[in-house]
Amino acid sequence: MASAIIKASQDVIRGKGMEPHMAEQQYFPGLEGIIAGETSISTIEGGLQYRGYRIEELARDASFTEVAYLLLHGQLPSQEQFADFKAILIESSEVPEPILEFVREIPLHAPPMDVLRTGVSALAHFDPQCDDDSTDSNIARAMRLIAQIPVLIAARYRYIHAEPYVEPSSTLRFPANILSMIRGTEIDALDEEAMDVSLILYAEHEFNASTFAARVVTSTQSDFYSAICAAIGALKGPLHGGANEHVMEVLEEVGSPENAESWVRTALAKKQRIMGFGHRVYRDGDPRAEILKTYCRQLADKAGNEELEQIADTIEKVVLDEKGLRPNLDWPSARLYHYLGLDVELYTPLFVASRVTGWAAHIIEQAENNRLIRPRSRYIGPVTLPFTPLSDRG
Ligand SMILES: CC(C)(COP(=O)(O)OP(=O)(O)OC[C@H]1O[C@@H](n2cnc3c(N)ncnc32)[C@H](O)[C@@H]1OP(=O)(O)O)[C@@H](O)C(=O)NCCC(=O)NCCS
Repeated sequence: MASAIIKASQDVIRGKGMEPHMAEQQYFPGLEGIIAGETSISTIEGGLQYRGYRIEELARDASFTEVAYLLLHGQLPSQEQFADFKAILIESSEVPEPILEFVREIPLHAPPMDVLRTGVSALAHFDPQCDDDSTDSNIARAMRLIAQIPVLIAARYRYIHAEPYVEPSSTLRFPANILSMIRGTEIDALDEEAMDVSLILYAEHEFNASTFAARVVTSTQSDFYSAICAAIGALKGPLHGGANEHVMEVLEEVGSPENAESWVRTALAKKQRIMGFGHRVYRDGDPRAEILKTYCRQLADKAGNEELEQIADTIEKVVLDEKGLRPNLDWPSARLYHYLGLDVELYTPLFVASRVTGWAAHIIEQAENNRLIRPRSRYIGPVTLPFTPLSDRG
């Protein structure tokens, strides 16, 4: 029997009994290098650009809120449009009390990313037009999520750490508001700027796994919240957004600059993946990582503690020498959030707080020009096995 199955599956691999074109078609594991759709939201060709603007310029001269507008509307706002946009975000930041209560009631051991996914799912029930997928409705609900996700993250965090809830501010800028709701302290200019730049850099990245998940859900004509929940689920994984939390675990495990080289050499010898290194599409380094590293240096200087930067430098050098791999954005962002006084469990949720803008733009783009995303697979299992009824199988 086993040999019949093996024979049948070998036949299938060779394409016997299948449409010849399916068997002959080349297939790319992980869809590597495949163009799976068109987008006008961002490109990585010739350097990362959002809606045609280079990320270096956006990180230097724009704010996250401006970038959110750019991603959702496709163009930079005028001063008046920007003022209106900010006012709507402030008005939209109130999370319905039953959801705040519910999020607090979830058992304490639940990971923050799971709680956030549940919170976003619950918000759908407070949107009476949940199934209206017009662009205007999707922009309005995207803005509510941009405003409310930081509140969900901070409210849950402070509750489980027995700290009083901090209401969203109507005067602070977006990055300072998130930090202040979490930390409950005043935020200085460098912390605010570093947070702002990290949010800009995390906002959008064409067809990454979570964005693609959101587009697949949207392509079935499902609703906006379902697409965002799928994206949050995809982002959580350590090969995607979850990497930023694992990076901090690595840095903590290494402990000291003296330990760094031997730690990373041992890890690589054991074929361990070093979180925060490598990228499916950036083979020569992630331009976002370079930008964020400069903020890590400034924050480390401010703290008068260079140890973590020294550990990071040593690991970067060894991983490049040994594997030819360079850091991705999650590598500096873990240190950056650490310097900002944030606990590790918040790192991937903060990625959500930013990437929701890119996801929303992609959901809108997919809905406006939809075709069901339904690829084919190459079947490698057995075929036409003789079926024995259960009663005869002993
Ligand atoms: C992001 C990532 C999944 C992309 O990987 P990919 O394009 O699918 O490449 P592969 O997983 O096929 O890896 C190719 C080779 O590089 C190695 N490699 C890739 N990333 C590595 C890492 N971070 N540390 C050590 N080795 C790594 C693989 O082990 C493999 O080696 P091998 O050919 O000797 O088996 C991968 O680099 C990774 O796992 N990085 C760590 C997680 C991370 O930082 N994720 C955030 C991405 S923004």
